[in-house]
Amino acid sequence: MPLRIGLVGLGMMGTTHYKSYQEVPEARVVAVCDPDARKLAGDWSAALGNIDTGAAQQTDLSALRKYTDFAALAADPEVDIVDLCVPTNQHAGMALAALAAGKHVFCEKPMARTSRLARQMIRAAGRAGRMLAVGHVLRFWPEYLMMKDMIDSRRYGAVRAAYFVRLSARPLWSWDNWIQDAERSGAAALDLHIHDTDTVLWFFGRPAKVAAAGMFEGSAVAHIVTEYRFEGGPLVVAEGGWNFPAPYPFRMEARILFEHAAVEYSSLRTPALTVYDGRTGKAESPPVPAASGYTEELRYFVDCVAAGREPERLRPADSAAAVALVEAEVRSARAGRPVAVKT
Ligand SMILES: NC(=O)c1ccc[n+]([C@@H]2O[C@H](COP(=O)([O-])OP(=O)(O)OC[C@H]3O[C@@H](n4cnc5c(N)ncnc54)[C@H](O)[C@@H]3O)[C@@H](O)[C@H]2O)c1
Repeated sequence: MPLRIGLVGLGMMGTTHYKSYQEVPEARVVAVCDPDARKLAGDWSAALGNIDTGAAQQTDLSALRKYTDFAALAADPEVDIVDLCVPTNQHAGMALAALAAGKHVFCEKPMARTSRLARQMIRAAGRAGRMLAVGHVLRFWPEYLMMKDMIDSRRYGAVRAAYFVRLSARPLWSWDNWIQDAERSGAAALDLHIHDTDTVLWFFGRPAKVAAAGMFEGSAVAHIVTEYRFEGGPLVVAEGGWNFPAPYPFRMEARILFEHAAVEYSSLRTPALTVYDGRTGKAESPPVPAASGYTEELRYFVDCVAAGREPERLRPADSAAAVALVEAEVRSARAGRPVAVKT
């Protein structure tokens, strides 16, 4: 029998997850929860955000149980996995309640508004004996998996330098404009740039120090540039910001300089990934599997729950470490000096 999903929050990510589950036969969305009656009725025209993830504008939800109150969904005995796609400041409270109710929890990134709350979520999952994972989707993004393999296999030698970029126009579509409220979202550093912070941890492990510079709006970081300092390691820099004027296009980019090649990924190009091989003198775009990171991360978590296997590719400790590393970056940007990273 497929695992039964209770999907919470039908905004940009909730509608994306809904569509992704349709491609995972081992899972079935049986219940949805959102305070917005239009979204519960399947009218998703106002839910779709600025990234086209392929979610439909009108969806037939007539066969599903619908809740406006999260506590009622968490108490539903016919839900096995609670999938949280709500504003970030609500992740921890809902995860703790769902775990206490005996549910497994998949939660969108960032894991929580603070690393302290993220650690509480890990302890709660341990107490409840339930699985917990956070949707760090780049760990399932085909081109990022290919870059990870190039690093680990040392096919092009050691990494000398790596640069990551994530920029967008100001996000103005969110429910109740929560993304623009730094108290709820953690601003660009936690909401947007954490994708690259987590990728740095995944690709290179934990740095000894971070040295960041920020562009602030009030006390919120609207744009951050961080150097991650590794003892004897490569030069690693990531830049993230969302205060660009519309119609500036969303872009995510990675550039890795190996001993024998340079590799570039840009979401604005087709094909997006190019390898400049210094040994052959050729530029090549290798074939990329036509998989969706969103579908694959959910398929992976569902498989882990079905098999009773810890989600090693999405370890909650790594997700909490990403939140803590962003916090160190913001401290560094505020202080104007490098900050040591706790191990
Ligand atoms: N992985 C990614 O690529 C990615 C991209 C965008 C957002 N996100 C993350 O996904 C989460 C959701 O972001 P979004 O862009 O979908 O936001 P959104 O504003 O588009 O959607 C949030 C939804 O939550 C609903 N909601 C609010 N309070 C609720 C409650 N108490 N109970 C049930 N539903 C509630 C709202 O009605 C809305 O439909 C955030 O944590 C965000 O950081 C991840």
